[in-house]
Amino acid sequence: MKVRQTRIYSNPLYKEFQIPKEPDLPKGTSKSVSKTFKLSLVIPTYNEKLNIHKIVRLLTNLLEPAIPGEYELIVVDDNSPDETWKVAQEITAEYPQLKVIRRQNERGLSSAVVRGWQASTGEILGVIDADLQHPPEVLLQLFNAVRQGTDLAVASRHITGGGVSNWSLPRRILSRGAQTLGLIILPQVIGRVTDPMSGYFLVRRSAIAAKTLHPLGYKILIEVLGRGDIQKIAEVGYVFQEREDGESKVTHKQYVEYLQHLIRLRLSRGKIGWLQQRFPLAQFLRFALVGLSGVFVDMAIFYLLSDPSTLHWGLTRSKIISAELAIANNFLWNDFWTFREISHHQKGWKKRFKRFLKFNVVCSVGLVLNVLLLNLLFNTLGINRYLANLLAIGLITFWNFWINLKLSWRSTDSE
Ligand code: GDD
Ligand code: MN
Repeated sequence: MKVRQTRIYSNPLYKEFQIPKEPDLPKGTSKSVSKTFKLSLVIPTYNEKLNIHKIVRLLTNLLEPAIPGEYELIVVDDNSPDETWKVAQEITAEYPQLKVIRRQNERGLSSAVVRGWQASTGEILGVIDADLQHPPEVLLQLFNAVRQGTDLAVASRHITGGGVSNWSLPRRILSRGAQTLGLIILPQVIGRVTDPMSGYFLVRRSAIAAKTLHPLGYKILIEVLGRGDIQKIAEVGYVFQEREDGESKVTHKQYVEYLQHLIRLRLSRGKIGWLQQRFPLAQFLRFALVGLSGVFVDMAIFYLLSDPSTLHWGLTRSKIISAELAIANNFLWNDFWTFREISHHQKGWKKRFKRFLKFNVVCSVGLVLNVLLLNLLFNTLGINRYLANLLAIGLITFWNFWINLKLSWRSTDSE
């Protein structure tokens, strides 16, 4: 009975985390293992004893008919206390495509994935969670996308056919908040896909081979997007499933590591992102002109509602209605004129209404920042109130423009 290679990789050589162009298997690896596969799929595990057999069986039943013997499954386990690595090693006899790596003194989802890719021999590399929250059937669509020429194929929760089962509102807000933070710090990386938090994707080996990767925390995809040579991207919608066994290992530590990861990628990419890209001046001028029209709309309606010679409504009620109508006016002009190249690709009233809601949120936050800035300039720095108001409007116009461009009218690179 052929015993599968179960190598214990703790080779310090890999500390710099490079994916070798050619598979770099340890000396003495048996001939059968050094075969080059079409697909190397890494399954990072920590305390997945109850899931590992299921996922390996599902993946084998899916891949064997499609690419018989042309794939490998690489479990990378971080010495799980529940001995997931042992269960995985025991089933290698049943699943000849399975390879198991047990890391003795390292921890971390992203570094586990890279470790598995280093030991792989596939021309397409991938990652899927062991806990069945990533539906395996999506894999073939991702695989076909890369086979047809894209460099990266991402399973996304945020496009048609995507979603999360029944996440709590706080978890949804946390996930979207993390994405928004990424869009502000690292727009030209995080903004390239609709679900940069995804942990389920395939990437062409040549797109990341010989790149020095510095994985950190949970988000391996932003490392690939940030350092890989990724030209063409495909996305496939999927619904993130409920976990049946075990529990998520996400703690606040992963969110801190995510922030560190963003900043490290930001610094490693040299110039500040918004300088790196040509600043969209024409769009900004259109946006500012639309903003000016909004001031007139706001003032006119504010007069009609609150002036003693007209309806003479209360100040606050009049201001809220006039501000909201001005926001609606600005949204329509921005959607049909300022950002028309982008909204042209995002047709349909549902998508337009979603942009309107995002625009509203950004402008409302902008209004709060405007008031705070006005108070700082007028009350603290003693600047003349009208000059202070003008400065505050100018600075917040930049804020509104940039965040709306990156969030409300965001265009990704995926096909
Ligand atoms: N080797 C190793 N080491 N594996 C780990 C570690 C670790 O330190 N931490 C977690 N894993 C494995 C888990 O065993 C599981 O297979 C997978 O990584 C995901 O871990 P979860 O703890 O279940 O993450 P999640 O469900 O909250 O989030 C996942 O899905 C999101 C959406 O795709 C992760 O993949 C996130 O990165 C992803 O954004
Ligand atoms: Mn999970």
